[in-house]
Amino acid sequence: MHVPGGIPTQTIFKVGDIIKNQYILFKEIGTGAFGAIFSVKRTENSQAPQEAMKLEKVTQKHSFIYNEVAIMQEMQGKPHFAKCFQFGTHQNYKFCTMELLGPSMIEIINRKLPLRFNLHDILKFGIQAIEALKLMHQAGFIHRDIKPGNFVIGNTKDTAGIFYLIDFGLCKRLPPINERIIQPQKTNNFRGTLRYASMNAHKGIELSPGDDILSLLFVMTEFFVGKLPWANCYDKDKVLEMKQQYLNQNMLNELPQELLQIKKHILQLKYQQEPKYSLITNILRQTSIRYHLNLNDPFEWESELVEMRDVVKQCHMILQLKYNEDRNKGKKQIEILKLRQVGI
Ligand SMILES: Nc1ncnc2c1ncn2[C@@H]1O[C@H](COP(=O)(O)OP(=O)(O)O)[C@@H](O)[C@H]1O
Ligand SMILES: [Mg+2]
Repeated sequence: MHVPGGIPTQTIFKVGDIIKNQYILFKEIGTGAFGAIFSVKRTENSQAPQEAMKLEKVTQKHSFIYNEVAIMQEMQGKPHFAKCFQFGTHQNYKFCTMELLGPSMIEIINRKLPLRFNLHDILKFGIQAIEALKLMHQAGFIHRDIKPGNFVIGNTKDTAGIFYLIDFGLCKRLPPINERIIQPQKTNNFRGTLRYASMNAHKGIELSPGDDILSLLFVMTEFFVGKLPWANCYDKDKVLEMKQQYLNQNMLNELPQELLQIKKHILQLKYQQEPKYSLITNILRQTSIRYHLNLNDPFEWESELVEMRDVVKQCHMILQLKYNEDRNKGKKQIEILKLRQVGI
């Protein structure tokens, strides 16, 4: 989750610490905007499967974790969403535990050159991501921070081909369908992550389901092409201009032409209008047929990641520490995805 001014915080916790007499921190697996994420083991049952624990410092004015838990609970049992186990407070931190998943899309792509997904993997990912967004929107929420760090795969052999959508700190509840209004409100505060934000987010316009899908289209384009034109630009207005220009002109020179229809559909949606999810997944399926790709084939990483999982995670954590160090030195504009250039 990116929050304006939010710099990843180091928590006071370290591997080996005991939380609430129930969990032992096993490995740090992610740095959150307001805390950290650890894999944890149950103290009373070391044979129980590991879980993931997200910690957030209580001093924040607004508790993102509270929002997150409420949404996780509503999404319980639906495909592409992690199981949520426990929510509590330990010292001056709030925590929640959930199903241990991962690695994330960023970690997967960073594992080897050319730092891209092939077309088969992009289309297959796209279909799963649309299914996840459909479930979320139909449950009455918009995610508002669709980006590669918020998609993780499952952590077992059987789930390495399934993407899960995580991180609901910025999620917002949509009004019931019969109360949806035509005219969006102006919020004027930027939400989300600059690189993947929709044009509405740039303009401070209240977001709706189509905005999540536009962000997804940016993610898919980046992972297929290798880089978005505004990857190194941090000026909000300039990035907006570049996005508009790219969508109008260059984007489809680089992607299969079928994706033009998805872009068209999303851009013509009215505020809070429901996207046609099956139209989008059908377009992705049609594209796979034209390119003779079988979407039942596994993702490229599935077999190899089962053995490599710990190595991928460790490399990513080392890179992330380096990133935090640079960031704390004032190089604030480095983004995690730039780590791709390191090319592990
Ligand atoms: N349940 C989980 N299982 C495995 N890894 C996770 C899990 N939740 C989060 N992570 C890892 O931690 C990172 C940050 O978590 P996230 O919930 O996105 O926090 P933030 O709000 O700071 O973005 C993710 O990108 C992912 O790599
Ligand atoms: Mg996140």
